[in-house]
Amino acid sequence: MAHVGNNKVYITRKLPGPALEMLQEFDVTLHKRQEPPTRKEILKNVAGKDAILCMLSDKIDKEVMDAAGPQLKIISSYSTGFEHIDVAEATKRGIYVTYTSDILAEATADITFALILACARNVVAGDRMVRQKKWKVGWMPDLLLGQNVHGATIGIVGLGKIGSAVARRARGFGMEILYHSRRRNEAAEQELGARYADLDYLLAQSDFVTIHTTLNDASRHLVNSERLQKMKRTAFFINTARGAVVNERDLAAALKKGIIAGAGLDVFEKEPLGGKSPLLAMKNVVLLPHIGSADRMTRSKMAEVAAKSILDVLAEGKEPDPKFLVNPPAKRR
Ligand code: DGY
Repeated sequence: MAHVGNNKVYITRKLPGPALEMLQEFDVTLHKRQEPPTRKEILKNVAGKDAILCMLSDKIDKEVMDAAGPQLKIISSYSTGFEHIDVAEATKRGIYVTYTSDILAEATADITFALILACARNVVAGDRMVRQKKWKVGWMPDLLLGQNVHGATIGIVGLGKIGSAVARRARGFGMEILYHSRRRNEAAEQELGARYADLDYLLAQSDFVTIHTTLNDASRHLVNSERLQKMKRTAFFINTARGAVVNERDLAAALKKGIIAGAGLDVFEKEPLGGKSPLLAMKNVVLLPHIGSADRMTRSKMAEVAAKSILDVLAEGKEPDPKFLVNPPAKRR
């Protein structure tokens, strides 16, 4: 594929995998620090760029697009979520927005199950007990009794690629599978043995409620105190999607009052989770630092896909056709 060698690309973080090598023919500006670039740095570094390879923590809005200038052709996000990008604005300007879509479905489903098992079977509490030398008696009939995962009911909110990958794992555990989605998916029901349920029914019946919706205006604070009240007192709430799908204050209150049994969280309304969060002190919560897609193979593949989208869009003499496109952008004048 022929490219214009002096195309300019801004990459907002060092990535595992082949992205830099793939984009080496371009004039690349790489943000090298571990911490995300500041707003000021983003606004400065996007100037004159043809492509931006950004992370989910970088807000790419109208101001950033203005600062980049009219030659900006693609915003390639190293993520499956794209709520940090003003897609409507990009579309209007003829800018392609791409993401890493299904690439991380299996990895995220793995971590979802890690949280389910950790919560239900006291994995973290057990580890702490052993390390802190509080395991005094050896084997005991009632030591750290947890809840069965096999044979339990899982309620999957959002049956897209990730939700479906979770359902496949749930099948392996012999679980009863309920799901709720904007649209009923009969093919997936057949394939996965999942039953469609309205949200209230799903909440009331499930032993594990797991969130796999994208974050948008309809799903923001979808789970609040009223909905948490509908769950079983013995149930666990799992979130590996986006923190803001649940009202975190309501969740903390429900956990404190024993309205639900516990939670496994990989995502938070504000990341990193602040030191004042009440969740930090709760024993019935397992907390992870947003590592749903963080296995080496997946993160490297995500980098490859994000770089490939840029190569596709910047290729000379051909209509761009990136595989993981969020928007068909408006035609450029
Ligand atoms: C994404 O890509 O949106 C994930 O949350 C990152 O793991």
